[in-house]
Amino acid sequence: MSIEPSDFRRVLGSFASGVTVVTTVPADGRPVGITVSSFASVSLTPALVSYNLDIEAKRYHAFADAERYAINILAAGQDGISNRFARVNGVDPFDDTAWTQGPDGVPLLTGALGWIACQRWACYPGGDHAILVGRVQALDCAAAAPLLYFRGRYGGFQAT
Ligand SMILES: Cc1cc2nc3c(=O)[nH]c(=O)nc-3n(C[C@H](O)[C@H](O)[C@H](O)COP(=O)(O)O)c2cc1C
Repeated sequence: MSIEPSDFRRVLGSFASGVTVVTTVPADGRPVGITVSSFASVSLTPALVSYNLDIEAKRYHAFADAERYAINILAAGQDGISNRFARVNGVDPFDDTAWTQGPDGVPLLTGALGWIACQRWACYPGGDHAILVGRVQALDCAAAAPLLYFRGRYGGFQAT
C-alpha cells in the first residue's frame, strides 16, 4: 500500500513539535547549521538523542559526517533564525546570528532555549532520511518559552 505524500505531510504536520538548529564545524572550520524539527530523545542511560536528516540535503555530509555537533532548541521569537538556517541561499546564516563556542567548539546560538552537545553515536538508514543518533556530552537550558511548529506555521506554547 502506498501513502500519498500529501496525506503523509498533512497528517505528520499535525504533530506539533519544537524547532532546533543542528550546528557543527566541518574540517574547513566554517560553522554550519540546519533547521530540524525531527529531534527526539532516545535513551537516558546512555544519554542519547536523535534527529532525521534528508539524504538529498545539499549540506547532508557536513552533518552526517560530524563527530561533534550541537542541537540548539529555539526559543519563542526565533522563527527568523529557523527560516535562515532552513534556506541557505549563498548567505551564511551565521553572519546574522549571534553564537558562541560550546564544548569541543560546537556552535551555540545565543538566545536559544537550550542546547545539547553531542558526539556521533550511530547513523541508521531511514528511507529518504538518515537517522542520526548522538551521545549527549553536555547540555543546558534556560527558563524561556519555546518556538513551536504546527501545520507549516510557527506558534507559541500555552499551558492549560
Ligand atoms: C521548521 C522546519 C523543520 C525542518 N525539519 C527538518 C528535519 O527534521 N530534517 C531535515 O532534514 N530537514 C528539515 N528541515 C529542512 C532543512 O532545514 C533544510 O531546509 C533542507 O534539508 C534543505 O537543506 P539543504 O539546503 O542543505 O539542501 C526543516 C525546515 C524547517 C523550516
